Amino acid sequence: MALALLKLGGAVITDKRASPPKARLDVLQRLAQEIHDHWDGSPLIIVHGAGCFGHIPAKQYDLTAAQWHEKKRLGTVIIREYMHELNGLVVHSLVQAKLPAMAFQPGAAAAMDQKKLQHFNLDILQHWLHHGIIPVLYGDVAVDASTGIDILSGDQIIAYLANALKPELVILGTDVDGVFDCDPKQHANARMIAKITSHNLHEVLQGLGGSQYVDVTGGMAQKVQELMGIAQTGVPIQIINATVPDRLGLSLGRENVVGTWIQSC
Ligand code: IPE
Repeated sequence: MALALLKLGGAVITDKRASPPKARLDVLQRLAQEIHDHWDGSPLIIVHGAGCFGHIPAKQYDLTAAQWHEKKRLGTVIIREYMHELNGLVVHSLVQAKLPAMAFQPGAAAAMDQKKLQHFNLDILQHWLHHGIIPVLYGDVAVDASTGIDILSGDQIIAYLANALKPELVILGTDVDGVFDCDPKQHANARMIAKITSHNLHEVLQGLGGSQYVDVTGGMAQKVQELMGIAQTGVPIQIINATVPDRLGLSLGRENVVGTWIQSC
C-alpha cells in the first residue's frame, strides 16, 4: 500500500509569536478530523513542526551555533520538554478523532553531522507502520557529530524519510497557499507559483526570503531547496495552506486543491 508523508507546519498548529508557547487546539482538532475523514488506511507518517515551542528557545539558547557551547545543554532540555508537550497535544487530537496515532521521538533515532541528518533508525518506525500505526514525529533536538547538539527540522526528517521510503505523496501543510514569487504576507500582489521544477528553481529561490517570525531552520527558501532534493528522486510534493478548512484533508484524499507542486521536471 502506498505511503504518504504529511507535515503539519509549526505556523499552522502554534501561535508562532507566543512566549510562553501556545498551541492552536481548535486547529489541531479540525486537522485531526480532516485526516480522519480522508485517510484511506494506507501507511501514513505525520511530522509536525515546532513553531513557538521550538524556534524561540532554539534562538534564545543558540542551539544552531556551529560549535558546542554550555548553553546548548539547558536549551536542549527545555526544547525537548516543549516539543514533548506539543507532540502530546497533536497526538491527543489525532487519537480523539479515532486515528491510530502514536508519538515517535525523532531525537532518539537520529544522528546528525554538520547540521544534516545522516542516519535515522527506520526499522522500528517501519514496524509500527506495518501494524497500521500512524507514527507522529516532530522537529526536535538531536545529536550532531560536529556541533554537539543541533536542531533537526521536521523538513529534514521529511526529506530523509522520503528518500529512504519513497512515498507516493508528500504533503506540506503551511499557513500560506503555496510558494509565492515574494512574501504574500508583505506584498499584496504576490503571485503563487503552481509548479516548481529544476527549470524555475533558481528564479523562485531569488524571490524567497526567510520567515517573518523567529525561524532557526530557514523558512520557505530552505524548505523549497530541501524539497527539490526529494522531488528529484521522483516523489511528488505539494505545499498547501492547512489553515484553510478541508485543504489538507482533500489533498490527503488525492483531490485537486490550491497549492504548489514541487516536481523534478
Ligand atoms: C523545528 O522544526 C524544530 C525545532 C526548532 C525544535 P521545523 O523547522 O520543522 O518547525 P516549523 O514547522 O518551521 O515550525
